Order: sequence, then C-alpha cells, then structure tokens
Amino acid sequence: VRVGQHSPRDRSSGLGRRARFKAAVQVDQSAGVGRNPVDAQTPDRPRAMRHASERRNAQDADRTSEPALAAGRVRRGSRVQAGLRMESAADLDDPDVRDNLEVVVENRRFTIAIDGPAAAGKSTVGELVARHFDAVYFDTGILYRALTLVALRHGIALDDAAALATCARTLDIRLAQPSVADGRQADILLDEEDVTSLLRTPEVDRAVSEVSAHREVRAALLDLQRAIGRCGRVVMVGRDIGTIVLPDAELKVYLDASPEERARRRCEQLALAQKPVPYGDVLEDMYHRDRIDSLRDVAPLRPAADALVIDSDRLAVSEVVERIVAAAESRLAALPAP
Ligand code: DC
Repeated sequence: VRVGQHSPRDRSSGLGRRARFKAAVQVDQSAGVGRNPVDAQTPDRPRAMRHASERRNAQDADRTSEPALAAGRVRRGSRVQAGLRMESAADLDDPDVRDNLEVVVENRRFTIAIDGPAAAGKSTVGELVARHFDAVYFDTGILYRALTLVALRHGIALDDAAALATCARTLDIRLAQPSVADGRQADILLDEEDVTSLLRTPEVDRAVSEVSAHREVRAALLDLQRAIGRCGRVVMVGRDIGTIVLPDAELKVYLDASPEERARRRCEQLALAQKPVPYGDVLEDMYHRDRIDSLRDVAPLRPAADALVIDSDRLAVSEVVERIVAAAESRLAALPAP
C-alpha cells in the first residue's frame, strides 16, 4: 500500500518531482508500521532522500517484514515532500498548500480513533491494532508533550496561551525508527534532538494537561492531526480524536481503566525506563490530569456518542486488541468496496 504516490514513473524513480510537490502526506505502509509513525525526508537533505529510495527498494523486495511508516511534510509555497515531518501546522492554513494536498490511496482507507484517559493502554493497544491492519500508528499526545517540553525549557508560562500556540505552530518534530530498546515506539526528535526520554518525565506529566487545555494550542495542532488522519489506514490515539479530530473515523474506541490500575501501569513503565516514581505520587498525578483533561472547556475527554467503550481493568492487552480488531473488521465489511 502506498499513499502519496502518483504514477508508475514516480514510483520507479523513488520520489519524482511531481510526487514531491503533490504529496503532502505520504504513508509508506510497508516501512515500519506503528513503530515509525513519522519520518522525514526532504529534497534539501540528500542523505534522507537516499535513505527514502533505498528503503523503497528494500520494501519492494520484502513487503512483509517491517511495520508501517507515516509521513508527510508540508511547507509554505506548496513545496510538499514525502516523508513525515510536519514543519509547521500553520502551513496547512496556506491555500497553496491545501490546493496541493493530494493523497492517493491504493487500498481501502479507514481510520480508527482511540481515546481515553492517561495510561489506559491506548498506545500499546493502538500500536498492535495498527500492526494488525498494516496501518499507520500515531500518538497525538507526543505533540502536546513536545510543546510542553519546549515551554518548560524556554520558561514560557503555562497560562500564556498565545505564546504556547505560536510555539505549537512552529514545532519541528520528527519521528524515526527507535534507536534505543527502552520500550519506546519511535525516536521523537525535536529540532533533531532525541527528546523521547524527556517527554514522559514527572515535570512534563504535571504540566502537559494545562498546556493542552488552551483553545489556541488545540487549534494550532488540529489541522496537522487531521492531515495525518487522512493518510490512509491510520490508528490515531489521544483524547479528542473521535470527538473533534476525526469525527468521521470508521471506528471510535474509548479505552478506559480505573485511576488505580492506570497508576500501577504507569509505575511499571517508569520503572522499566529506570525512572521509578512512588505509586502514591503517580496516582495523585493521574487524578490531577484526569480532572483537567475531563473538565476543560475545549475538547474535554469523553467518549464519542458512537464509541465502543472498553474498560480494560480486567482485560489482558490481547483481549482489548481482539475486541477492537473484531469491531473494526465488522465496520470494514460494511463499507462499500473501494
Ligand atoms: O496520552 P498522553 O498521556 O501522552 O497525553 C499527554 C497529554 O496531552 C494529556 O494529559 C492530554 C493531552 N492530550 C490532549 O489533550 N489531546 C490529545 N489528543 C492527546 C493528548
């Protein structure tokens, strides 16, 4: 499955000029599913380009071994490249860029939205579901976390919505193959610095809900998320994916679990990453974030009216995945043929 490819010529040459201009969002479904939601290649980066065409050749030889890779880069002046580096969400406001958005899907396209509170298991489950469907996996939480990290580093007040939104519009985030085996799903590069392990610190955990509660911040990140959602087969996780970002998703799931169970799971994750935090602190933090995420005025955390609600407290990961896959398959079967 290729998205964002326009002609056999484009395909054989790896990345034709036309494809570079036309494909705003490319999903390379055979190049690293779930593990690599996003990767970047740009014409001004020959090394990355070489990497892209080599990868494509390898994919042709073996289309089964690697999971999917979502990508897309949008640039002012409608210079749009394959690979997924969203340079600036603001670029999507540019009519030139919009006119050039073109996504060619050679397979049935569908989206699965998975929402739910912190540490409900969305990312573990989402990645496995994406793998099952050979789909792109994208965790929208990293956008809010990266923005929070930038704010903390630059001393931007957490209540300065305008400054935060400006920052959100110029975020330079790239996701790449995981380079460290610490349980991460991808390397998250912020201005090319690997910040993966800095996005889940207690400091970011404490501040991210406040940052993400601002209307201006959410607006600044909305089009970017929607563009990714249009990639083809996409599993997107977050808080408002089924309600706001992708309200037309073929399947909406709301994955829930009690605060106690979620705190237990988050403690396990932190211990695994060699950053243990006492259970009581994690639980308190969980209540704090739940309160802000659910009570905020803009896009509060809640299930979409037509969401499949799953309480994962007493379910194994595999059981949750099976339920979602079964629901998605029955929705897909009901869709008209592509
Ligand atoms: O899923 P997570 O814990 O990584 O998300 C971090 C924060 O980002 C969470 O507290 C709320 C916010 N968030 C959001 O408001 N909307 C999303 N779609 C994803 C995350």
